Amino acid sequence: MNFEEEVSEYIPLEEDLVGPLSVEAFTADKAFGRAIPNLSELELAFFGVGNAMFDQSWVTAPATTTSRDGLGPIFNARACSACHAKDGRGKPLLENNAASQGFLIRLSSDNNFAEGPIAFENYGGQLQDAANLGIEPEGSINVAFEFIEGRYPDNTVYQLRKPIYSIVDNSYGSLSGAQTSPRVGQQVIGLGFIDALSEESLLKNQDVNDIDKDGISGKANYVWNVKQQKLTIGKFGWKANQPSLEQQVAGAFHGDMGLTSDLFPNENCPSGVDCSKLANGNNVGEQVEVNSKQFSRIMIYQAAISVPKRRNVDNADVINGKRLFNTLNCVTCHVDRFTTSTYPLLPQLENITIKPYSDFLLHDMGEALADERGDFLANGNEWKTQPLWGIGLIETVNKHTFLLHDGRARTIEEAILWHGGEATKSKESFMNLEKNKREQLLAFLNTL
Ligand code: HEC
Ligand code: HEC
Repeated sequence: MNFEEEVSEYIPLEEDLVGPLSVEAFTADKAFGRAIPNLSELELAFFGVGNAMFDQSWVTAPATTTSRDGLGPIFNARACSACHAKDGRGKPLLENNAASQGFLIRLSSDNNFAEGPIAFENYGGQLQDAANLGIEPEGSINVAFEFIEGRYPDNTVYQLRKPIYSIVDNSYGSLSGAQTSPRVGQQVIGLGFIDALSEESLLKNQDVNDIDKDGISGKANYVWNVKQQKLTIGKFGWKANQPSLEQQVAGAFHGDMGLTSDLFPNENCPSGVDCSKLANGNNVGEQVEVNSKQFSRIMIYQAAISVPKRRNVDNADVINGKRLFNTLNCVTCHVDRFTTSTYPLLPQLENITIKPYSDFLLHDMGEALADERGDFLANGNEWKTQPLWGIGLIETVNKHTFLLHDGRARTIEEAILWHGGEATKSKESFMNLEKNKREQLLAFLNTL
C-alpha cells in the first residue's frame, strides 16, 4: 500500500493528534522536529535546508558567509533555535538582563483596534535587548518574583510564582507610558495544520456574547495581513496576533533577529542611527537579507513539522483524566476536533482531522494574567487558548516545564491554577477534585 492509500483507509487512533500524519518521535532531539511522513524527496530536502536555517546563528554583515549575514542592527537573539531550542518551548526570563532563550517583551503606546498596537516612539513594537557592535541595544530587562500561597479545598498547599518585569538602561529615550507584553516562544509543532484551518471552522466555536450561557465566550482576533493588505483572522502568537505562518516567520526574522525578507523589506532601524550607512546582508542583486528561496525552505520546515503521538493512552488513570478534562469544560476552550481545509503549500496537510486542544480564539483569562496591552481585538485580559499538543514532551525536549505566555507557571498544575476570567469555573472544579483525580487529569495532560 502506498502512503496515499494508507491515508485514505486510515482508522482514527486515540494516540494520533494529526491523524495518519502523527509521528512516533519521543526523544529530546526529535519529538518536536520530525516531519510528516509523506513529504516528497524534494520537500524533504527543503525541510533539511529549512531545519539548518532554523538552527544556524546569523552574523553581522558584511561577512564571508553571505547567506547568513545581516543580523541586526538591533535584535533579540541570533538564531530561531536560540528561542525555540530543538523546536520547543522557550525559557522565561529568570535573572536580570539574561540573554534571551525565548523571552521577549512587546511594546506599544496604545492599541488601535483596526491597525493593531501603535509602535512606541523610538522603540517600535518590541524591545530589542541586543545589538551589533557599535550600536546601543534598546535596553535590558530585569525580573523579580512574588510568591503567592494558596490552598486547595482539601487543604493541600500550592504556590504561584508571579514575575514582575522592569526595563532598565533604555538608550533611545523615555519608556514612560509604554504598554508591555512579556512572552515566550512556543514549541513550533503542527503549525502547517493550524495554517490550513479555514476561518469558518474557527468561527464555529465563537460565542462572543456567550449565548449558550456557559460563561465561556471566545472571540476571533482579526489582525493586519501584510500580504493581503486587509484584516484577516489571527492564528499564531499568544494573542492570535499573526494571521499566517508566513507572516509569523517573516515577523520573527524581522523583529527578533533584524533580518529583512520580502514581506518586511525595511530594516528595523533604531532612532538616530543611519541604517543606510550600515552594511546590510543583502546578496548581490537582492533587496532583502533572507531571499525568497531561503524563505520558502524555512516555510516548508515550519509547516511540515508533525505532532508526536500520545503515550500511555490505555492507562486507566489517563482515561479517567481525559474524562475529567471534558467534564470540567477544559475542552470548551482546548477544543479537540478540527478538520483542515485547503493548503497549497503542502496539500498533504489537507482534510486531516486534528486534535490541537485549542480553539485559537481569545478568552478573558482574568486580571492576574493580564498584560494591559491591546493587540488588535485582544484586550489586556485576553489570550488565545494555547494548543496543548506536545505539552507532555516539553520537559523531555527542553528540560523545563515553564508554561503560559510568559513562562511564569513552573508546572502544568500551576498553569491551571493561574486560569481566571472565563476559565474560573473550570479551575474551581479542578480545585474541588480529590487529589487523586487532580493527578489523573495531570496524567492525561502529560500524554499529549
Ligand atoms: C528572541 C526569541 C525568539 C526568536 C529569535 C524567535 N522566536 Fe519565534 N517566538 C518567540 C516568541 C516570544 C513567540 C510568541 C510571540 C507572540 O505571542 O507574539 C514566538 C512565536 C513563534 C511562532 C508562533 C507559534 C505559535 O504557536 O503561535 C512561530 C511559528 C515562530 N515563533 C517561529 C520562529 C522562527 C521561524 C524564528 C526564526 C526566524 C523565530 N521564531 C525566532 C520568540 C522567538
Ligand atoms: C476559557 C477558556 C479556557 C478554559 C475553560 C481552560 N483553558 Fe487552559 N488555557 C486557556 C488560555 C487562553 C491559555 C493561555 C493563557 C496564558 O498563556 O496566559 C491556557 C493555557 C493552559 C495551559 C498552559 C499551556 C501552555 O502550553 O503554556 C494548560 C496546561 C491549560 N490551559 C490547561 C487547562 C485545563 C486542564 C483546563 C480545565 C481545568 C483548562 N485549561 C481550561 C484557556 C482556557
